[in-house]
Amino acid sequence: MGTDLTSTAQAMVAEGRGILAADESTGTIGKRFASVNVESTEENRRAYRETLFTTPDLADAVSGVIMYDETIRQSSSDGTPFPELLAGHGILPGIKVDTGAKPLAKSSEEKITEGLDGLRERIAEYVGLGAKFAKWRAVITIGDGIPSTGCINANAQALARYAALCQEGGLVPIVEPEVLMDGDHSIERCFEVTEATQRAVFTALADQRVSFEEMVLKPNMVISGKGNERQAGVEEVAEQTLRCLRRTVPAAVPGVAFLSGGQSAEVATDHLNAMNAMGPQPWVLTFSYGRALQDPALAAWKGEASNRDAGQQALAARCKANSAASRGAYTPETSAA
Ligand code: 13P
Repeated sequence: MGTDLTSTAQAMVAEGRGILAADESTGTIGKRFASVNVESTEENRRAYRETLFTTPDLADAVSGVIMYDETIRQSSSDGTPFPELLAGHGILPGIKVDTGAKPLAKSSEEKITEGLDGLRERIAEYVGLGAKFAKWRAVITIGDGIPSTGCINANAQALARYAALCQEGGLVPIVEPEVLMDGDHSIERCFEVTEATQRAVFTALADQRVSFEEMVLKPNMVISGKGNERQAGVEEVAEQTLRCLRRTVPAAVPGVAFLSGGQSAEVATDHLNAMNAMGPQPWVLTFSYGRALQDPALAAWKGEASNRDAGQQALAARCKANSAASRGAYTPETSAA
């Protein structure tokens, strides 16, 4: 007796499939474009997203695409609105609904994600535009004396209020509490902070009557800080991430779709594969990568229409590799071409 939202949540993490995060805000996509010398005009952003979304057989590995407000209102060059184009290929259209991580008052280095004002009305509009799920990202920074309990709880509260509004309005919420890998902290410290964050998030979700069956969790992996001298290997990251999730994530949640968070495309695939190779877990483990899926595609496309096929092939290669990793069946050889 599953609800529509339960079926959507299950479809988002269906076997062998994951989510393409293509919801960079105008500012963020501008930075990504600058890295390959592409000017960030509305037309270039549209053309880039059209290149990604029309990749042949994208739906084999991708269950859903997260878009930004500008993108969900754009169309392909033949005039098909992007949500309709994706749905026509069997891909669920999704929308980022937070309005960004802002400085937390009286804490110079911590962030609080905003976007609750008017959210009920915005959700109704996005449902009208064809969205089936939404995303909200909270950012937790590890540093000297941080994160504070106040920061974790404020972000957990906001995530829970967002998730409840989504379910009320007919969208499956992706709940994304991201503990950043920036910093020189150890993997043990990342474990501690990720565990505390996820505990706070699930407590707040329960307080706001969020149905666990009708959501997807998008967490960071438990990983060494970028600047830490001991970089934990693939098996250790997989073990510690699973140990953390088992302590905090109710079995009623259908799936966990990881963010890549600045890991290289290959390492993000290796980590996902290692976790899935460790045997069945209470939830599906898959990907909801942004950079780890798109970076090779963006580098191949470089803003040139003549590079469209090369960009699509690069995206397809990452999708294929991560689809295999979501089954624990990835090897570099099986995924070549
Ligand atoms: P990355 O995989 O690049 O971290 O992006 C995922 C995402 O949606 C961040 O909010």
